Amino acid sequence: MGIVFEEKQRVFKLDAGDTTYMIGLAGEEGFAGHLYFGKRLNDCMTDDLLRVTEPPFAPDTNNRDRISFMDALPFEYASHGVGDFRDSSIRVRTVGGTTAVSPVYHSHKIYAGKPGIDGMPAVFGKEEECMTLELMLKDEALKLKVVLYYTVFEKLPVIVRHAKICNESENTLWLTKAMSACLDMDNRDYEMITLHGAWARERHIQRQKIGYGSQGVESLRGETGHQEQPFLAVCAPEATQRSGEVYGFHLIYSGNFKVRAQINQFDLLRVNIGINDEDFTWQLKQGESFDTPEAVLVYSDQGIGGMSRAFHDLYRNHLIRSPYVFEKRPVLINNWEATYFDFNTEKLLQIAEKAAESGIEMLVMDDGWFGHREDDNSSLGDWYVNEEKIKGGLKNLVDKVNALGLKFGIWFEPEMISPDSELYREHPDWAIAIPGRTPSMARGQYVLDLTRKEVRDYIFERMEEILSGANIEYVKWDMNRPLSDIAGAKLPPGQMGEFYHRYVLGVYEMQERLVSRFPKLLLENCSGGGARFDPGMLYYSPQIWCSDDTDAIERLSIQEGTAMIYPLSCMGAHVSVCPNHTVGRNTPFFTRGITALAGTFGYELDITKLPKEEVEAIPGQVELYHRFAELIVRGDYYRLVSTTEGKGCDCYMVVDKEKENALLSYVQVQGRPNCHSRNVRMQGLKEDVLYTVKGIGADYEKTLRGDALMYAGVQIPELWGDYQGMLLEIHARR
Ligand code: DGJ
Repeated sequence: MGIVFEEKQRVFKLDAGDTTYMIGLAGEEGFAGHLYFGKRLNDCMTDDLLRVTEPPFAPDTNNRDRISFMDALPFEYASHGVGDFRDSSIRVRTVGGTTAVSPVYHSHKIYAGKPGIDGMPAVFGKEEECMTLELMLKDEALKLKVVLYYTVFEKLPVIVRHAKICNESENTLWLTKAMSACLDMDNRDYEMITLHGAWARERHIQRQKIGYGSQGVESLRGETGHQEQPFLAVCAPEATQRSGEVYGFHLIYSGNFKVRAQINQFDLLRVNIGINDEDFTWQLKQGESFDTPEAVLVYSDQGIGGMSRAFHDLYRNHLIRSPYVFEKRPVLINNWEATYFDFNTEKLLQIAEKAAESGIEMLVMDDGWFGHREDDNSSLGDWYVNEEKIKGGLKNLVDKVNALGLKFGIWFEPEMISPDSELYREHPDWAIAIPGRTPSMARGQYVLDLTRKEVRDYIFERMEEILSGANIEYVKWDMNRPLSDIAGAKLPPGQMGEFYHRYVLGVYEMQERLVSRFPKLLLENCSGGGARFDPGMLYYSPQIWCSDDTDAIERLSIQEGTAMIYPLSCMGAHVSVCPNHTVGRNTPFFTRGITALAGTFGYELDITKLPKEEVEAIPGQVELYHRFAELIVRGDYYRLVSTTEGKGCDCYMVVDKEKENALLSYVQVQGRPNCHSRNVRMQGLKEDVLYTVKGIGADYEKTLRGDALMYAGVQIPELWGDYQGMLLEIHARR
């Protein structure tokens, strides 16, 4: 690890893990140009790579061909309106109505450690773990300072970036675009990977060629959304899970985002990542500054798998703050798919009693315990226990559940308000709405204006009272609709463009308050399934509900896409009943169990109505979870066969850091006629170590060296029928 500035060459060299990132100062003005991001280099490159002496790219002293230069220089943070016609990183509106901005090098600082960002999630690291470069740029015409932050970690091929933009002029300025990071490089026939989805079909992998022009992903929903992930990977066409160059970009943010890849006339590829500039404006008065969210840039020359493991290690060690990050989570049973809104104390206790007998460790009471909520048409905002359903009160229920040996968890949807609620009758103006326009509802509800402190305070106080009134050890924070009809009753007209970001800051403030007030609380974020699966949320909660689709086969693609960038330890995954409530599919109970094992394991069913043989199988599944939890929480993830490859199976491995113990999970999506065993090559083991390999769910036993397991592979026996699965438990022989 290290950051140096070579004064003679005017080059910054940042070494991170086995990666090097280089920035060069170009031309007399000192444009911050991007020189290199890739495999570790010994020396600094000269500015050849910036092509500053090569017409038409050379900055011309008489300004004759300045535009060609601006349009071709690989920028670290792209200017706007002065000749670079590619996607800009920043745009600033002045009192005079102009929008151009072109910051150039002013000074820099290099230091050990990493600063946080006020009010926003951010990667953290100790002084001995990471170093930061602050590259200060200035636009003298605007009197605008742009500080680019770059942090590198000793052991990770990762650069964490964000920008702080400060108005040093006497006039007010308005940011109309402020991206977190920009990366320019030569296009090498690159392809891009994004994670696309819908409700119950989140984060499906999409890979396509990057063509000329712009392409990318974005959200305008006020949250991340089911549809796209704030992630884009640029990869060499030949890149696979195991080899090839991959650049991963991910934004630590939970609101409107934009990640765009663009190839221009000179075959230069630019990736810009940050807050979506649509409907975004931020007023900066004299002396005020704005911090963008952080972007994580990963380089891997070990394929997509190398990128995944870098993201996993960064997030587990330097983003998730929860004390649960490396802990085994309690095996929970959630009553949503068991009862939906139709439950009471008695029903919950019946579930808890049966769950306790099977080794389940926590009961989670989902939606419907408050106000007069019998369906999704009422009561959001009325966070008072419905004592007609929860007879004897919440404490009585929690005490009884605890007496059965189970922990207790509860569901909230803090950001919402139902038109049929006491809260709405009292404060109709707390719902987001544009005066004179009927706001669009979704699931019969409106969104609370969390940009207002009094609204946040009220909801937080209600949550605090519920949580301190009984021994509640887990909260599921749900959010079941996107934002629309944007107007802030307390925001001046000139600042309406700040609403979306202020909303996200409001959510962050509330979650920060929650985890500070209840530091032992296990928080799980959720949004109509997985619409808020983003790195921003990981800063507050160590786990996030992956999807409302609990069908084991649908989950294979959802979890594969999610695991491409997120550690398994944060993926909420549960076993549910068949036929599955979302797709009507029947799958074996064993396969449902091993699929949920890939995440934070639990059940989402009415155990009192489950077939006897399935109830009897639960203790065995719980035992498997305990046996493999440590591996899943801490291990390295390797994708062996993708569900999307059309090979009819799904297979991944988790290997501990010592490479001594591993777990291989295999699900045969469809049985195949005339097929025999299937060869699967393992990854991540030591070549010369002898391992025992034992099947769970199918007969298999072998002792082989790591090289044989990885290069020749193992034959997974033919499994009879669709949706069958098995596990292989792998241990180094002592
Ligand atoms: C959406 C969540 O994803 C579900 O698990 C459940 O909590 C419902 N909301 C409750 O309304």
